[in-house]
Parts: sequence; C-alpha cells; structure tokens
Amino acid sequence: MTQNRCVGTVWRATAPVLVVHGGAGRIVPEELSAARAAAARRGLRQSLAAGMTVLRDGGSALDAVIAAVLVLEDDEQFNAGRGAVLTAAGGVEHDAAVADGATRRAGAVTCISGVRNPVLAARAVLERTPHVLLSGAGAHELARREGLALVPVDWFVTARRQQQLTGIQARPELTGGTVGAVALDVAGHLAAATSTGGTTGQLAGRVGDTPLIGAGTWADDRSCAVSATGDGEALMLSVFAHEVDALVRLAGLSLGAACHQALRETEARAGTGGCIAVGPDGTVAMPFTSAGMFRGAIDATGDPRIGMFAEDTEC
Ligand code: GLY
Repeated sequence: MTQNRCVGTVWRATAPVLVVHGGAGRIVPEELSAARAAAARRGLRQSLAAGMTVLRDGGSALDAVIAAVLVLEDDEQFNAGRGAVLTAAGGVEHDAAVADGATRRAGAVTCISGVRNPVLAARAVLERTPHVLLSGAGAHELARREGLALVPVDWFVTARRQQQLTGIQARPELTGGTVGAVALDVAGHLAAATSTGGTTGQLAGRVGDTPLIGAGTWADDRSCAVSATGDGEALMLSVFAHEVDALVRLAGLSLGAACHQALRETEARAGTGGCIAVGPDGTVAMPFTSAGMFRGAIDATGDPRIGMFAEDTEC
C-alpha cells in the first residue's frame, strides 16, 4: 500500500498549553479560497483565545478544551454544531466527547439533533450521570434537563452544507471536518474534547470515532490527551486515540512517534486523517496523513501558531 506523507510539527511547549483542530481532509491551497482560508484562520485563533483565557486564569484543562470547542461549534464553517455536514436524508446528527485526564473519566453523546452545543451535552454525561455515552433521545433529554440551549434542527443547516450534500456523489472527497481541542493546564492535568457532524451523506444513525472513547477522543494524565479527525471508520477500527496512549504508556514511544505509528495503523485500514495531542511534559504533536489539517496551538510563552496546509511547517 502506498503511504501518504505524514506531516505535522512536534515541539515542546510550556504549560499551560492548548491545541485545537478544525478537521483534516482535502485542504490544499489550490482549492481553498483566500476568504475561506482567512475565515478558518480567524476561527482557530478565536478558539485558541477562548481556551487560553481559561488556562491563563488558572482554569482546568477540561474547562479550556470545552471553551475552545464551543467557539468552533458556533462557527458555521466547521463541521460541528451549526454548519455541520448533512446526513443522506438531509438531517443533522451530532457526536461529541470530552475526556478528563485527571480522573480518566469521559462523557459523550451520539446521534443528537437539536442541542445547540453538543460538547456541553457530552460534559453533562461526564459530570451528571454514571454513564460514558448517551445517544439520541436520551442524550437530548439530559441536555433539556440540564438547561442547555435547544434549537430547531433547521437552525444547524447551512446553504453550503446543502450544496455539499447535492455534490457529494460527484466529488466524494468533499467529506470531513470535525473540531477538537487538547490542553495541559498549570496543575499538570490533561483533557480532550471533540465534536462533529460526521460525514456528508452518512446513513442516519451512523456513529463515528468522535464519541467513542479511545477511538477519536482520549485523555490520561499518565500519557497524553488526543483528539482525532479524518476517516472515522478507519479511526474506529484502529482504536486510534488509545493506540497513541498505549504506544506512549506501554511501549515507551515519544508522543510524536506514537501519533505517526497510530496514523499508519489507520492508513492500513484505508483511512487518512490526523490528530492533535499533548503530553504531561508539554510535548505537542499535530500530525496528519490527509492533504491538510486546520490546526492551531498556543502555550505560555508565545503567540498562536496556525496551520492548514502540509507546507505550514511552523505548526
Ligand atoms: N472523524 C469524524 C467522523 O468520521 O465522524
């Protein structure tokens, strides 16, 4: 099998650290308009600013990743919250997860429609139930009980996603997206959050890697926090995020090497994608085997680094 180039910077950051992504996929300069590139850059910056404000105020990694993902869910250019991709039936089904490295607990929701910010529903599962994953009507009912903002399903649907659904048969590469964040706080705790609308034209009821703890989302203070993006079926079959954890924690690989090896396992299942990851020592990895990945990072010492194309080596 031909291997895709696996690119993405690995660097040692200083706590607190926040890394975000806005999805991996066919993100190449020839096909991304200047306006869309600028809008993506702006969205990633705003997400980093929201999460870093939490971290700089001494807040937890969990609060920071949720703050960062909230911004991306509300930004309709990304495949999460409003602006998420549409199912084959033209509907919207959101998946989201949060993972707390300090407690090694997690919460997730799948196949929900009508909760404005799915990441808050995932948090409610983590903090307000004994469960890890709630689906559909049960997750919606929890969100209602917790007083989360509910909106009509039409509110999530944008003209761009309707056009994309119509064109999907002609250009199947127009799938992808997903948003996520990982963080290391000043107390040394890690967290991850991921949110998505899945894949364009997916069958109703399809569940992707995002809400499956250990596939698309993972955090353990002993090893790493990981948020994945890309071909969900391959990420699930390679149990991607837990593979990264196991390679670090049990096999002793560096975080960067572990991410690369786990992406190779995903590729062996005919999938491309990427991830953002941070370790307890501040190591940041943002590798991908897709053409590009919307990504950004910030730490205690510097300005935000933003990248989208394979050539953006500063990030
Ligand atoms: N990676 C997102 C999904 O496949 O649903």
